[in-house]
Amino acid sequence: MQVYLAPLEGITTYVYRKAYNRYFGGVDRYFTPFIVNKKLAKKEIEGILPENNPDMVLVPQIMSNRAEDFIEVAREIAAYGYDTVNLNLGCPSGTVVSKKRGAGFLACPDELDVFLSEVYEKCPMKISIKTRIGLEAEKEWEKILSIYEKYPMEELIIHPRLRSDFYKGPIRMEAFGEAIERINVPICYNGELNSVADAEQIKDTFPQIDRVMIGRGVLRRPDLILQIRGEKVSEEDMKKRLSSFHDEIFEGYRNIMSGDRNTLFKMKELWSYMGESFEGADKYLKQIKKANRLNEYENAVGGIFRDCPISKIMVKS
Ligand SMILES: Cc1cc2nc3c(=O)[nH]c(=O)nc-3n(C[C@H](O)[C@H](O)[C@H](O)COP(=O)(O)O)c2cc1C
Repeated sequence: MQVYLAPLEGITTYVYRKAYNRYFGGVDRYFTPFIVNKKLAKKEIEGILPENNPDMVLVPQIMSNRAEDFIEVAREIAAYGYDTVNLNLGCPSGTVVSKKRGAGFLACPDELDVFLSEVYEKCPMKISIKTRIGLEAEKEWEKILSIYEKYPMEELIIHPRLRSDFYKGPIRMEAFGEAIERINVPICYNGELNSVADAEQIKDTFPQIDRVMIGRGVLRRPDLILQIRGEKVSEEDMKKRLSSFHDEIFEGYRNIMSGDRNTLFKMKELWSYMGESFEGADKYLKQIKKANRLNEYENAVGGIFRDCPISKIMVKS
């Protein structure tokens, strides 16, 4: 089973990916969060620079509904040594959807068809797609699939939710199964894989699937991919890895963010997930949330690593 780390805008930055790859790894493909500009901005260039993404396979992701823009930015990305890009057709955010981008583009299947025919004809790179199954109703999927069937996608990554489900609504497995029946390119499953058992269930239900993508499950418990691969790590070793992983990310943000507040913002967001890797960390997690200064933050984090055991789910599974 190949395992991919999902892109999470603002979270799976190159700082995060690099540290993850060093202390956990086991990821077959990383994806950048979406690039939306016609021309790469400085931050986006830093995100794809090979030296910022060492020893990993990285696929830059583009979000666009204009073929020319997509091709232009893909060409720029190619100049950094990449041969594949991913198209985002899943982002559910209101500002994105209102511009008919991300999941919003699924509402205009005819325009999407024209867009895809142009990019698959003219773009010099391999293109994979990451998609939801529609905007508001499962019946939209049929038409979307009839479009996807026509194009030589590198792979199709499906998060089987509607845009209106955001990140919480039901996973629509039937729609996912339908795609497996109809689409002739490799299909990757994405959505709510939060434990080894979840990954096994997908394998059992869809034995044809040889790749999955995981996002929040890995943020909550960075050991997850190692566990899926059957690697055993002792509690002591896991704590050491988490601590080094944390320190490298913290150091990375301190070096590149302007001001402590921005660094704290990044680290707080990370802990809103990674807090679940520890037992009984509530008191310290509250302190992290409230911290206004780096030393307050560091004291709270020190408390977690000193006093809180690794979460039972991580040790047991
Ligand atoms: C905060 C946040 C940011 C995200 N940013 C992106 C993004 O930039 N590109 C993308 O394709 N998906 C993005 N996603 C969706 C994830 O890649 C993934 O599809 C989704 O979280 C479901 O997988 P999971 O249940 O394993 O987390 C984001 C999700 C969240 C919660």
